[in-house]
Amino acid sequence: MTVLTGAEVFVEGHLQKLDIAIEDGKICALGRDLEGDERLDCSGKLVLPGVIDVHVHARDLRQSHKEDWGSLARAALAGGVTTVFAMPNTEPPLDTIERVRDYRRRAQASQINATIYGAITSENYKDLDRLTPHVAAFKLYLGETTGQLIVRDKKLHREIFKSVTQTEKILTVHAQRGGDPADVTRHEADDICYVLDLAAAYETKLHIAHVTTQRGVEAILEAKKSKIDVSFETCPHYLYFTAKDRESRGAWLKMNPPLASEEDREFLWWALNEGLIDMIATDHAPHTIEEKSVGYERAPAGVPGVEFLLPLLFDAVNADKLSLRRFVEVCCGTPARRFGLPKGEIAVGRDADLVVIDPDRKKTITRKDVQSKCGWSPYEGLTLRGWPVMAFVRGIRRNPPCAALADGRWSSL
Ligand code: NCD
Ligand code: ZN
Repeated sequence: MTVLTGAEVFVEGHLQKLDIAIEDGKICALGRDLEGDERLDCSGKLVLPGVIDVHVHARDLRQSHKEDWGSLARAALAGGVTTVFAMPNTEPPLDTIERVRDYRRRAQASQINATIYGAITSENYKDLDRLTPHVAAFKLYLGETTGQLIVRDKKLHREIFKSVTQTEKILTVHAQRGGDPADVTRHEADDICYVLDLAAAYETKLHIAHVTTQRGVEAILEAKKSKIDVSFETCPHYLYFTAKDRESRGAWLKMNPPLASEEDREFLWWALNEGLIDMIATDHAPHTIEEKSVGYERAPAGVPGVEFLLPLLFDAVNADKLSLRRFVEVCCGTPARRFGLPKGEIAVGRDADLVVIDPDRKKTITRKDVQSKCGWSPYEGLTLRGWPVMAFVRGIRRNPPCAALADGRWSSL
C-alpha cells in the first residue's frame, strides 16, 4: 500500500489535509496518519483527481510522425492528464472493430488510461452492435476537417442519430461547418441547433465538441431546459486566443472550429465560472512544424494542447480567475460522470488516478520542453504558475516528464 502524506487533497469539493492510501489501483482510504509500506511526502503540494481529456488526437498508425501513443502519454502526463479519449480520425480511421481493437492495444502499452472513439461513417452506421462494446462513444463529423470522415447527407444524419441511440452510447458531434473562419464562427449556433434538433427527435445522448461562441453555448443551454440529453466542451485555445491572434500568427493558430471574437472569449470565461460549461477538453491536434510552415491556406488545421491543460487552467486558479472547485468539475468530475468512468474524484473506491501539483512553481513554456512529437506549442512564451510534479495512473506512479528525479526528490521542471 502506498500512502501520500502531507498534501492538501481535493475531497468533497474542497482542499483538506489528508493522507491518501492506494492499493490495487484504487483509493482505499482517506484520513489522518494512515499506515503504508511506501510513504510519499507531498508537503506543500496539492493533490487533485487526474485530469480527463475527452478530446485528443493521438495519431499513431500512418501518422506516427505527428504523434504516437508513447509521445502522447508523455505529453498528457506533463499536462496533468491521466485519461484521454482518443478521436477516430486516424489514418486509417477507427471505423471497424479490428481497427478499434488494434488501436486499443497500442493505447494500452502507453502509461495513461485511454479510451477510444469509434468513427461513424456512411458505411458502418447500420451495424454498430459489434463495435459498440469496444468504444467509449461514437464520433460524427459534420464539418470538413483533418481526415475523410465527414458525412454530408442530411437523410443519413437522421439514420445515424437513430442508430446510435440504440447503442445507448453518447454521440459526440463535430457540428461546426468548415470554410471561411468568419462564416464558421457566425454559423456555429445554427450548426449546433441542427444537431440539437436531431438529438431531440431521436432521444440521442449528445455531446458537442469544441464550442467557441456565446451564441453556440446559449443554444445548448436553451436545449438543456427542454430536457435534451446534451453536454459540451470548450477548449483552452478558445479561452486564451481570438481571431485577432490568428491574424498575426496565421497557421500556428489555425484550427477547426476557428478562433472566435474577444467577446466570445470573455463570455467563455464568464460561463466557466458560472458553472455553465460542462467540460474543458484540449482537442489536442498535433501537426509537425514542417506541416504548419506552409502558409495559412495550405497548412492542416489543429493545434496541440494536452500537455499544458492543467497549467493553463491552474494558472487561472492562482490568479483568482477560476475557482479550484470549478476547475476540478470541468476537467475531472463531469467528464467522468458523463462518460461513466469510475474516476474524476478523490474518494474511497475510485480509481487512483491522481495528479500532485506544486501550486507555486512558475515556469515559462519553451519549445525545448515540448513532449508532443509535433515539437511546438501555441503557448510558447507564456509563463504559468502551478505545475504537475507527480501523477498516478490507476495507482502506478507515472511522473510527468522532467518533474521528479530518479531518487524521488523533486526536480525543477
Ligand atoms: C483536428 C485534427 O487535426 O485531427 N483538427 C482541428 O483543427 N481541430 C480535427 C478536428 O477535431 O476537427
Ligand atoms: Zn478534434
